[in-house]
Amino acid sequence: MKNIVVTGGAGFIGSHVVRLLVKKYPEYHIINVDKLTYAGNLANLKDVEDFPNYTFVKADVCDYDRMCKLLREHEVDGIIHLAAESHVDRSIKDPFTFARTNVLGTITLLQAAKEYWQPQGWDGKRFYHISTDEVYGALEMTHPEGVRPPFSTRASSVEHHEAYGLVFFTEDMKYQPHSPYSASKASSDHFVRAFHDTYGMPSIVTNCSNNYGPYQFPEKLIPLFINNIKLRKALPVYGKGENVRDWLYVEDHARAIDLIFHEGKVADTYNIGGFNEWKNIDIIRVLIKTVDRLLGRREGEDLNLITYVTDRAGHDLRYAIDSSKLQKELGWEPSLQFEEGIEKTVRWYLDNQAWMDNVTSGDYRKYYDDMYQNH
Ligand code: NAD
Ligand code: TYD
Repeated sequence: MKNIVVTGGAGFIGSHVVRLLVKKYPEYHIINVDKLTYAGNLANLKDVEDFPNYTFVKADVCDYDRMCKLLREHEVDGIIHLAAESHVDRSIKDPFTFARTNVLGTITLLQAAKEYWQPQGWDGKRFYHISTDEVYGALEMTHPEGVRPPFSTRASSVEHHEAYGLVFFTEDMKYQPHSPYSASKASSDHFVRAFHDTYGMPSIVTNCSNNYGPYQFPEKLIPLFINNIKLRKALPVYGKGENVRDWLYVEDHARAIDLIFHEGKVADTYNIGGFNEWKNIDIIRVLIKTVDRLLGRREGEDLNLITYVTDRAGHDLRYAIDSSKLQKELGWEPSLQFEEGIEKTVRWYLDNQAWMDNVTSGDYRKYYDDMYQNH
C-alpha cells in the first residue's frame, strides 16, 4: 500500500495526474491536497471523487503545521508536488504570491517531509517536484525559416533539430529564468535539490514544456482563444505572435509523471516534451480553423478576430525541450500527434460550456477585464 499526496490536484495538470493514479492503482491511497485558488476546481475530478482510494484535503501547502499533521495522519510515503501559481501574466502583476506559494510552499512541504521521513529512514520515500522548462530562459530561433511548418512534417527526434541547427533545452543547461513565475519555479527546484544534497531527501525534478488539453484554466492561450473564437471575441495576440512554444498533450505529461515517480532515478532530473514547437500565430490560425469547422462555420471565417496587442513584458522568445533522456532511459514517448490532440481539445471545450461558464464567472471575470483593458 502506498499513500501518495498529490498537491495541486484540483488544477489542470494535477487533475489529470490524480485521475490516472486513482484509476490505475486501486491499491494506492491518493490524497489530493489543494487550496482551491481561482485555478483549482473540484469539478475537474467529478469522475473519481467517489473512488474509495481517493481523498481530497483542502489545505495550503504553506501551512507547515497542517502539512506535518497530514503526512503523519495518512502515513504518506510519496509526494508529487504540483501546487503552484502558474500564470506568467499574473506573476508580472503580483510576484509576491508566486514567491509565497512556489518558493515558500515548496520549502514548507520539503521540511515537513524531512521531519516525518528522516527518523524512519528514507527508504521507500519519494519527493517528486513538477517544474517547467521556463526555468532555462529563452532560446533563439536558429531555424532558417523560424520553425518547421505546422502539420506537415513532424519533428520527432533530436536528429531533426540538429539537422536544422536548432538549440533546445537539455537537463544540464544553466538556469536563466526571466519572469517572476519562472524565477519562483527555478528557486523551488534549487531547494528540492538542496534538500537532497543536504539531508538525503529522495527527490526528483522534472521540467516540462507547455501543456494543453481539457480542464486548463482559460487564462492560458489555448483554452482562452478557443472560448473567445466560439464567442467571437477579439483574440489578444501578444507582440507579433512570433514567439514559439513547445506543446505537449496533458495526458502524456501525466503518463510521464507516473513513469518517473515509479522508475526515475533519485536526485535526477528529466525534461519532458514532445518535440512539437509552434509559433503562437500558427497555432492560433489552427485553433480558428478547427473551431470554425466544428461549429459548422466557414473555415477561417473568424481569422479577423486576431488582434495584435502590446507584448508581454520580458516575453521569452522560444521554448523547446529535448526529452531524449527520458525517451532513452525510461522509454516514454508522447502518444498523440498534435493534430489529434488539438482536435480532441477543441471538441472538449466546445462540449463542456458549463465547465467554462463556471470557471469564468466571479473573480476571474474581473481579472480578465482588468488584464485586457490595458492592451
Ligand atoms: P494550475 O494553475 O492549473 O493549478 C495549480 C493548482 O495548485 C490549483 O488547483 C490551485 O488551487 C493549487 N494551489 C495553488 N496554490 C496553492 C497552495 N498554496 N496550496 C495548495 N494548493 C495550491 O497549474 P497547472 O498548469 O496544472 O500546473 C501544475 C504544475 O505544473 C505547476 O507547478 C506548474 O509550474 C507546472 N507546469 C505547468 C505547465 C503548463 O503548461 N501548465 C508546464 C510545465 C510545468
Ligand atoms: P501561456 O498559455 O500564458 O503560457 P506561457 O506563457 O507559460 O508559455 O502563453 C503561451 C504563449 O501565448 C506565450 O508566448 C504568450 C502568448 N499569449 C498571447 O499571445 N495572448 C494571450 O492572451 C495569452 C494568454 C498568451
